[in-house]
Amino acid sequence: MCGIVGYVGNEACQEIILGSLERLEYRGYDSSGIATIEHDQLQLCRAVGKLSELKVKIKEKPVSGYMGIGHIRWATHGGVTLENAHPHLANSEVAIVHNGIIENYAELKKDLIEKGCVFISDTDSEVLAHLFVHAFREGCVPVEALRFVLSKIEGAFAFAAISKSNPETLMVARNASPLAIGFADEMAIVASDATAMAHLTRQVTYLKDNDYAVVTAKSCDIFNGNNEPANREIVQVKASPILLDKAGFRHYMEKEIHEQPDAISHTISAMSDVGGNLTAGIDIPSLSKIKRIVLLAAGTSFYAAQIGRYWIEKLSGIPVVCEIASEYHYRDPAATGQTTAIVISQSGESIDTLMAMRHAKNLGLDTFGIVNVADSTIAREADKILPTRAGPEIGVASTKAFTAQLVVLICLAIVLGKQNGHLDESRVTYLYQKLLKIPGAVGKTMKLFDPIRPIAHQLKNARSCLFLGRDMLFPLACEGALKLKELSYIHAEGFASGEMKHGPIALLEDGLPIVSFVSEGKMALKAISNLKEAEARGGYIIVIGTQVAVDLIDFAAAKIVIPDCEPIFAPIVGAIPVQILAYLTALEKGTDIDQPRNLAKSVTVE
Ligand code: AGP
Repeated sequence: MCGIVGYVGNEACQEIILGSLERLEYRGYDSSGIATIEHDQLQLCRAVGKLSELKVKIKEKPVSGYMGIGHIRWATHGGVTLENAHPHLANSEVAIVHNGIIENYAELKKDLIEKGCVFISDTDSEVLAHLFVHAFREGCVPVEALRFVLSKIEGAFAFAAISKSNPETLMVARNASPLAIGFADEMAIVASDATAMAHLTRQVTYLKDNDYAVVTAKSCDIFNGNNEPANREIVQVKASPILLDKAGFRHYMEKEIHEQPDAISHTISAMSDVGGNLTAGIDIPSLSKIKRIVLLAAGTSFYAAQIGRYWIEKLSGIPVVCEIASEYHYRDPAATGQTTAIVISQSGESIDTLMAMRHAKNLGLDTFGIVNVADSTIAREADKILPTRAGPEIGVASTKAFTAQLVVLICLAIVLGKQNGHLDESRVTYLYQKLLKIPGAVGKTMKLFDPIRPIAHQLKNARSCLFLGRDMLFPLACEGALKLKELSYIHAEGFASGEMKHGPIALLEDGLPIVSFVSEGKMALKAISNLKEAEARGGYIIVIGTQVAVDLIDFAAAKIVIPDCEPIFAPIVGAIPVQILAYLTALEKGTDIDQPRNLAKSVTVE
């Protein structure tokens, strides 16, 4: 994770860099800092904690100059301390900011210490600053210094460096971690993503892996990993220049929960053609090539994948496997013939998912990406994109991106079923008409804040909580548990209801909260007996389902009633109450809802 920024131009850079860091805050919030150069002197300001801490500090002791770098940290190597905050300086000559991990830092550090370098931090990143100092002392010009540093380091990185011996030149490089360069008159800006520069420019170049560049206000020389000049296309990005506000809500998460009816209807539109027919945005030849699918994702996106698997197999008969991206990346999957890899990522930058997609490509698979951020690395590298139209999601806990991913997956399942004849025309039309009613049903779930509030009040004292579901509601139970643990720090696990008796039932004790999805139909009786067993052992049963379904569980301690919908769409409508439950429980506990401890929105380290 971590976000980096660098600016060189004809305007004082402090406020520009702070503006970019605000837009990068989703990448980490352990510490932040800025280093600038003026009159051949490096100036530094760093603070532990959120960016607001840096703003307070910098007000008292501003930094000046027309070139500088900035950083927002999500700690990997070294604790959350001022010494470990970036930028890192070496000998007051060079300052660097880094996102990623320098894997061979220990041996480099040992070598540099033997040569007399003094290290201040416990980070892997500081070796970069010392390596640059070494290169400049050997008489290197910036491009040679970059080549020297890159010849020494291994790992994943995007970095920017400034040196007081070259006070108008930014030195940048990337491998695996994202880095964009933006251009405007008499200035250049580099950053971890294009949004961070949207207040200055929309003209952006994305560096490719192993690229490095020497950037001034008037020039930008990019080289590839073979040290050859590289021409990288300048694209016009759509990132909004306006920082998003909370629109009167207390938290971004609360706002994003309320944005779901829109996110869902925009995504349904993106999956339909101008005539209102569902196409998933894929042409017929590409659709008919899909014979097997592997879904790759992490975290919440992985639970969307698991629900998608139920849908695709049910509606199209196409075999699907789901793989956790970080595992797939290092696996040798046996059967790959005629398999399409579909990666799912809100940010489009999760390194595990990106690496899994590249692994699939290397194995010869076609790659589709279900992504929310249109300019992200996954969006650029996938063969085909199925966009979610959730809009920017700022809260670390994914809400509207998750339900938008579900919409893309159900649309894909219907379209595949139509294409291979598994579904007849009338069933397709029926499902599509019912799908169009989902934004309305999700809109009604916004009324659930009040009835869920007392349940959250009760839950806040729990040490642990179980979430249960069957069939396509089982992955949703896992998603409910993930939401609760990341927001309220209460231990929570999701299980398939039928699995309880095979072990987890041993956890049951008086008052243990059990949140269970219940459905109507043939599975209802099974769920009732599973819940009866739990209640008999003291479980505090909270059920979520339609009125008909929850009425079957007369022994429940609490009931959350969701609007009626076609049962196959229940995972979309059922997602909202567990988001609300996690949100309100966190509110009761007073945790940091939009930026929970230890987490970051975009996970760009392995
Ligand atoms: C969601 O609430 C989480 N914060 C996290 O699990 C997230 O879904 C995961 O890191 C994957 O992110 P992505 O969708 O951006 O790839």
